[in-house]
Amino acid sequence: MRGQPLRAAVVGHPISHSQSPAIHGHWLEMSGIAGRYGLFDFDPADFDREIRALAEQGYQGVNVTVPFKEAALAMADSTEATAQRIGAANTLVFERGRISARNTDAYGFWENLRSGLSNDRRVPDRAVVFGAGGAARAVLVALQDQGVNHIWLANRTLSRAQGLADELAAGAMIEAMSWTEAEDMLDREAVPLIINTSSRGMKGENPITARLAAQGPETLVNDIVYNPLKTKLLETAAAQRSRTIDGLGMLLHQARPAFEAFFGGRVVVDDTLRQKIEHNMGLV
Ligand code: ATR
Repeated sequence: MRGQPLRAAVVGHPISHSQSPAIHGHWLEMSGIAGRYGLFDFDPADFDREIRALAEQGYQGVNVTVPFKEAALAMADSTEATAQRIGAANTLVFERGRISARNTDAYGFWENLRSGLSNDRRVPDRAVVFGAGGAARAVLVALQDQGVNHIWLANRTLSRAQGLADELAAGAMIEAMSWTEAEDMLDREAVPLIINTSSRGMKGENPITARLAAQGPETLVNDIVYNPLKTKLLETAAAQRSRTIDGLGMLLHQARPAFEAFFGGRVVVDDTLRQKIEHNMGLV
């Protein structure tokens, strides 16, 4: 295979909106590595077969997005512990005929959040998390690993929050509550970390109208929604003088460990990359 460019891709259904080719393409260009990063829309019925075909063709691996993250975990020969805990994989690495499953979403979330911690870099001990879907799973696992030991998990469907709290109970105290209860709590008491993992606030969806009345400069608010970059939740937080972090950094940072696994080079998430992706997505 000497002389052949290294190959990787993102797979999903649909997939045309994916920014992964632009992110990996930027890093290939910057690092001078001879590689190609493509994009495939697979029929869900053929997922396993198509993935094995890419491995046989000599691909280094793939990033996996909706709706294949659970199927990716299920088909792998081996699974890293974080992916197992999250219950989903966003990266498959092909090595010596074996497929290994990873999940870099928890890492990407934390790398993005870290930039907003106060100067002493102290990790908040408590957090309110909105949403209990796939994204919430990665966020909760990351918070547990960083030692956030009391998490209030609020969701429109309370039973889903309760189920997730029970499932991840071993790592931290997770208390399920209704969306309204959480909003009321944030009007009464300051909480050092607030994260939205739900799709509320995305372009075309209802914005989050929490008032955050008891929050001030000690609170850090992160919305993992990145379209728009400045959600209503982040606007409210800024008006309370809380610190804010948008969701685009998570998308960029989750790609880095995958790039390094596929192509071998060390790369960075910097302003040039961020501006390129903001421009591509029409966010600015
Ligand atoms: P993802 O992988 O992006 O997390 P998901 O697994 O479909 O996607 O989860 C979507 C999350 O956004 C869920 O927490 C969902 O709440 P429900 O469990 O009650 O469905 C939440 N969500 C989506 N639309 C919402 C809305 N209009 N109001 C409140 N929550 C919403």
